[in-house]
Amino acid sequence: MMKLLLISVLSFSVSKVVASALPSWDVQQNSYIINAINSEQTEIDIQNVFRSPINFPDFPKIQARPKKKDRTTKEGEIPQYVVDFAPFVYLYSEEAYLPCDIADFVSHTHAVYDNGTVIDDTVDHMNLTKLANLPKDKDIFLTSNDDFSKDPEWITGSKNKPSLVDGEIPHAPATLIVVDKGNGWVDSFWFYFYAFNLGPFVSGAGPYGNHVGDWEHSLVRFYKGKPIIVWLSAHGGGGAYYFPNLEKSQTETNHPIIFSARGTHANYVSVGQHPHDLPYDILSDFTDRGPLWNPSKNYLGYTYDGKKVTPVKKNSNAKHVGRELEYDNWLSFIGHWGDKQLPLSDPRQYYSFIAGYHQIDGPTGPLTKNLLRLSPCERGKWWNFWQGCNIRQNIKWGVGMESEGYNCGNIFINVRPKWFKSILDKVTWGGGFCYIVDLILG
Ligand SMILES: *[C@@H]1O[C@H](CO)[C@@H](O)[C@H](O)[C@H]1NC(C)=O
Ligand SMILES: *[C@@H]1O[C@H](CO)[C@@H](O)[C@H](O)[C@H]1NC(C)=O
Repeated sequence: MMKLLLISVLSFSVSKVVASALPSWDVQQNSYIINAINSEQTEIDIQNVFRSPINFPDFPKIQARPKKKDRTTKEGEIPQYVVDFAPFVYLYSEEAYLPCDIADFVSHTHAVYDNGTVIDDTVDHMNLTKLANLPKDKDIFLTSNDDFSKDPEWITGSKNKPSLVDGEIPHAPATLIVVDKGNGWVDSFWFYFYAFNLGPFVSGAGPYGNHVGDWEHSLVRFYKGKPIIVWLSAHGGGGAYYFPNLEKSQTETNHPIIFSARGTHANYVSVGQHPHDLPYDILSDFTDRGPLWNPSKNYLGYTYDGKKVTPVKKNSNAKHVGRELEYDNWLSFIGHWGDKQLPLSDPRQYYSFIAGYHQIDGPTGPLTKNLLRLSPCERGKWWNFWQGCNIRQNIKWGVGMESEGYNCGNIFINVRPKWFKSILDKVTWGGGFCYIVDLILG
């Protein structure tokens, strides 16, 4: 009986999918790029999950390593449009681990090989020059000099709240890396550094997945100076969106708004609860409208061509011109920005079968994040075996009390009463069904 009911529910919803989906499938190819370039239209109509995120037949090719004649930017030059369309980041209102300055962070660490051998020169007065001169070995860990689990100031960055006036964080520069992708395409990567990642609680226990050092980033992809696509990092995956569909700052309407989740700093485009990786909302991030950070007020700027990093000659903020030189060649460090996972014998470590270790390895730095990518997505999740990158038409809304929207490709949106709609959402594989529908129609 129950089975029958479920089947009828499913077939009902599937027929609705088809009905509501059809009109938007015959929209002209590439209209979203043309829309982004030409019109005031905010809602861009696109096709579906099966289209390519890199081949737009009417537009020139995106290239990983374009020849000089195919570039529209110069080494060490950040085009003004990159700054004009930089994302603004809402931090979580009660965020305990705020953005940090890499120079300050590094000075509280020393470098240790995977096998435990300490690199002597880094024990006293560690700084960015020493960092840049470390061996090119990814099995090196910047290891805390004092106990990170006691939340020292250099870990929490507790003074680094954005200014209420202009969103600047004076003592924590963001990092901007511009990569020319040829034929008018330009990628701007904004990197956000936090000294600590507080992982999630799972079924009341945890947190799990804590690590020292946390690199998150977003990508704004331009074509001939117009922002087309935005991608955001979240837990080794992330979301891609067409620029015009994102929320914008009300006062400076060029700037798209993104939200940094509590503790993990994963990036989202909406407020509320964001379940990820496990069904039935076991694992969730939370975002809200806490302090608003404007990273373009304080950043270290570079261009990168796959071989060479070039510090910018001009910084849009006069007071920061030339600071990149003081920070030396820190991007050349390819090891881990944070301690190695503690052994289980350490009293600060524990393990759960579902959620993994309490404390894990620190992450590697910006240049290891596939900056020469063609697809806007950094990489796919393990289950995304076809390595697809769905550029979403709609905002992916948070769920729960604070949600400001509705997902599931809108298929249940008209179902009443509300409690029945909510049951439908839940029984369809704990949201897994909605997830798939949303992937295709979102
Ligand atoms: C650890 O690894 C480094 C780099 O490979 C090496 O130089 C060092 O001798 C190793 N130490 C031990 C104790 O094996
Ligand atoms: C790091 O320290 C060394 C000497 O210990 C010094 O020569 C160098 O200029 C310092 N670099 C920075 C970025 O402060």
